[in-house]
Amino acid sequence: MPRDQWVDPRPMEDGEPVNELSLRPRTLDEFVGQRELKERLGIILEAAKMRDEPADHLMFAGPPGLGKTTLAGIVAAELGSHLHITSGPAIERAGDLASILTKLEAGDVLFIDEIHRLPRMVEEVMYPAMEDRQLDVMLGKGPAARSIRFDLEPFTLVGATTRTGLITGPLRDRFGFSFRLEFYDQKDLQVIVTRSAEIFEISIDPLGASEIARRSRGTPRIANRLLNRVRDFAEVRGDGTISQQAAFDGLALFGIDELGLDKVDRTLLENLCVKFGGRPVGLSTLAISVGEPTETVEDVIEPFLIQQGLLVRTPRGRVPTENAWHHLGLEPPEQPAQLFG
Ligand SMILES: Nc1ncnc2c1ncn2[C@@H]1O[C@H](COP(=O)(O)OP(=O)(O)OP(=O)(O)O)[C@@H](O)[C@H]1O
Ligand SMILES: [Mg+2]
Repeated sequence: MPRDQWVDPRPMEDGEPVNELSLRPRTLDEFVGQRELKERLGIILEAAKMRDEPADHLMFAGPPGLGKTTLAGIVAAELGSHLHITSGPAIERAGDLASILTKLEAGDVLFIDEIHRLPRMVEEVMYPAMEDRQLDVMLGKGPAARSIRFDLEPFTLVGATTRTGLITGPLRDRFGFSFRLEFYDQKDLQVIVTRSAEIFEISIDPLGASEIARRSRGTPRIANRLLNRVRDFAEVRGDGTISQQAAFDGLALFGIDELGLDKVDRTLLENLCVKFGGRPVGLSTLAISVGEPTETVEDVIEPFLIQQGLLVRTPRGRVPTENAWHHLGLEPPEQPAQLFG
């Protein structure tokens, strides 16, 4: 059986304990930033509601923590539908997918996280399901095998992936709308920090919020995590209020530097600059040097370093930029040619 969870997307009742989940925006209005996405998605959802039809299949891509799962919840809530959550690796066989799909009721939203990790056999069953609401199931083996066709209820598939490049063409083409989430700017992150502080009843001043926002690696999940760490710091070492100074000292204590880089980010850059002397380094060598899986380096660590102009991917390998040397307080090599091997 796939490990699918069933989640009720309706807003929680008043008096429900305040926890991490309550930080998740529940409506498109509450979702901060990503203006283009919000406008387009808003129109798609509104139109579906007006026609009383399920929305087209939707795909959200981008680095972890930018709001893909949150958006799946919002889609279901805005459509007033039930949300079913599963993930690519949890659906091992075509039969697993069949049992999920046949449980869907008209208008339901099915969220498949890490959709790039759907096994190929399962993916092929998905195509007619997405396109024609048809499910073909093979019964038996060998010459006696026959295929039975089921009609499915109309549903909306929401896919999420940290790897657009790994989605096969035929799958990608069956989504009516795909959107790539980009890192958030400091202003939006400050709104997110302030909103979370309000929900958790944390006292924070605007400069404190802006300091946390500035060091959140463009990522709402990190912003919320840093808010919690600084809150701990302010409660233990200060008067509980998050001032700019408290944010500054708290973040320094937890090893977050001025750009928001943590220890792993800095080790990776240090290895590129010092250990490998600025020469191009292959992904797997680099991953081993920081003791992280290659996927983590590629999906989680590198995107922000690239966006910040600290690292470039070249055909011959990863190379630190001049900014990387400066950020680490090192002298870049004299000859720029050396930078690119
Ligand atoms: N636009 C936003 N506005 C406010 N909060 C947000 C926003 N996007 C994300 N968050 C917060 O960040 C947290 C992480 O978001 P989410 O779990 O949706 O990310 P994700 O893209 O699904 O990450 P992963 O790839 O790791 O699954 C959420 O709990 C939510 O509180
Ligand atoms: Mg997610």
